[in-house]
Formats: sequence, structure tokens, C-alpha cells
Amino acid sequence: MLTTAIFCTCALIGQAVAWGELGHETVGYVAMQFLAPKALSFVQSSLGSTYNESLGPAAPWADTVREETAYAWSAPLHFIDAEDDPMDDSCSVSQKRDCASGFCTLTAISNYTKRIQETSLSATQRQEALKFLDHFIGDIGQPLHVEALETGGNDITATCAGKKTNLHATWDTGMITQNIDALYGGSVTTWANTLVTRIKTGAYKSEAASWISCSSITSTKSSKRGLIGTTIEDDIALTRKNARRSTQVTLPELACPLAWAQDSNSFDCSIVFSYTTGEDLCTGSYFNAAIPIIDTQIAKQGYRLAAWLNVIFDGATNLPS
Ligand SMILES: *[C@@H]1O[C@H](CO)[C@@H](O)[C@H](O)[C@H]1NC(C)=O
Ligand SMILES: *[C@@H]1O[C@H](CO)[C@@H](O)[C@H](O)[C@H]1NC(C)=O
Ligand SMILES: [Zn+2]
Repeated sequence: MLTTAIFCTCALIGQAVAWGELGHETVGYVAMQFLAPKALSFVQSSLGSTYNESLGPAAPWADTVREETAYAWSAPLHFIDAEDDPMDDSCSVSQKRDCASGFCTLTAISNYTKRIQETSLSATQRQEALKFLDHFIGDIGQPLHVEALETGGNDITATCAGKKTNLHATWDTGMITQNIDALYGGSVTTWANTLVTRIKTGAYKSEAASWISCSSITSTKSSKRGLIGTTIEDDIALTRKNARRSTQVTLPELACPLAWAQDSNSFDCSIVFSYTTGEDLCTGSYFNAAIPIIDTQIAKQGYRLAAWLNVIFDGATNLPS
């Protein structure tokens, strides 16, 4: 059974990298259904037939390339190591404290929001910026991508559906796979359509507007240098101004990605670490409490991604509120 053992190890390493393909694709498919005309047109022509003109199939790209030597530099961009204390019920994210290196999801979103607007870059470079945004706006919604403790839960052994894995992979992939098979026939588009219906007419309708209002969940104090916006429009205006500078300047600190990071990090102080040792996390009470949060986080990030691209290309969020 040596081959089986080797195969299983590889599969686990593959899973430990991000929301996982299913979660990322679903974020992309949700966003597709809320794009304004110019954003849609840019997405379709930039991604082309390689990605079936869709943010769904393009979303996992950033995970695929981080395994390659040429893109190894991008690995730290998939997370923010929040140095908070969830075991003591203290959750927080600070860009200064948790992204001191300047290489984390927050700076990556700023960087690729700037680059997608730089018409002097090549079509390939702007497509890369789009694929990174598609992916990182997904990653920032996964509570364990915004947590330093035990390497974002990678070092915590866990059991999912009878298989040994770790806490991080259980949130990225294990619980999603289990749920998508049970409820959506294994189809990411069926899952995405269900989330879109909830946003348009269902359980998420009343809260969706708050998902894209960043000022409500962040501190409203503005930075000394006036670099911190409070709406998606403010953030995009900062990156646009930055993109127009001819020389390389410091990336602007953005309010909305930080608010989204704080939003998902808050779950590290509620459900994420609240399991009983030895409990199977993909069945029973932990699973039943986690699934509604995973659904909401995926729906939020798809909706936020659409709003982000709509403001960049159409000048307004253009979303039902
Ligand atoms: C490509 O996109 C079209 C239109 O959205 C869709 O109907 C089709 O199923 C997609 N094909 C694949 C292989 O995903
Ligand atoms: C910004 O994007 C460029 C091109 O992909 C990359 O070389 C650089 O390291 C990025 N910086 C950050 C902070 O993401
Ligand atoms: Zn990732």
C-alpha cells in the first residue's frame, strides 16, 4: 500500500493551500452574476477561451502557480498572519502589525487593483492582476487565511469524514467537499446559483448591502496621511491615483480589504477553534455550525469581488441593495 500512502500525502499537501478549488471557483461564479457591463466585458476579453471567459475557472490559478519556482514569491500573498489571540477570545487584524513585510493579501489586493488599471501594462500582465484579485478576494474571506495561530491551523491535526487531515485544510476543502456532494450534486455552479438566489431574493438579501459598506465595520479614523478610504469607491480612487504616478510609489493602504479581513478573522474567535479534540469536524455539530458561515463567506467574497471590479471599470458598485 506504499503507493496509496504516497498518493494521500500528495493530496493533502495539495489541499492545504487555500479555500481549495471548489471554494475559489464558487466565489468567481457568484461574482460573474453581479458584474456591470464594462467589468463583464473586461473579464470576458481578458480571460478568453482559456478560462471560458469566467472568473469561476480562473480563480484557482494563483494556487496552481504558487507551486512553481517562477511564482514561489507569491506564496505569502495568500494570507495575513494575524498575531491576535483567538484562544483568549481576542481577535484583530492590523496591517501594520500583521503585514509588516509588505507581502500579504492586503498589499497584494492593493497591488493588483493598481495594476489592473494600468493600461501601459501588457494584456498578459493585466490578466495576471485579474486572476490574482479573483483569488485573493476569495482567500481573505477564509478565517484561517487571516490567522497566525498554529500556521493558520495547518499545524492542528483534525479529522474530516473519518480521514486524518488538519484544521486549515478542513476549512479550505474538507467541509466544502462534504457539503457540495451532499446538497449540490458535487457542482460548484449549482452551489454558486443557490448563493446568488439567496443574495437576490433570499436569506442574504437584507444583509448584502452591509457586505460592501466597509466603513461600518472598520474604524472610521482616517490615517494621518489621508491614505485610508472608507468606501470601495475611495479605495479604487486611491489605487487609480497611485497607478497614474510614473515612478514606483508605496502601495496605498485600503480600507475595504482590511474590513473584510477583520470580518473573517472574527470567526476565529467564535466557531473555528471551538471543536472538541477528536471530534469529526465534517459531521455533527461543528460541521452544522460551520456550513452556514462558509456559505456566507463565499457569497460575500463573490459579491465583494463583483463590486470591486464594477467600481474599477464602471465607476459604481452597481449592485442590488
Ligand atoms: C462556459 O460558459 C458557458 C456560458 O456561461 C456555459 O454555458 C458553459 O457551460 C461553460 N463551459 C464550461 C466547460 O464550463
Ligand atoms: C506586485 O505585482 C508585481 C507583479 O506581479 C510583483 O512583482 C510584486 O511583487 C507585487 N507586490 C506585492 C506587494 O504584491
Ligand atoms: Zn490562495
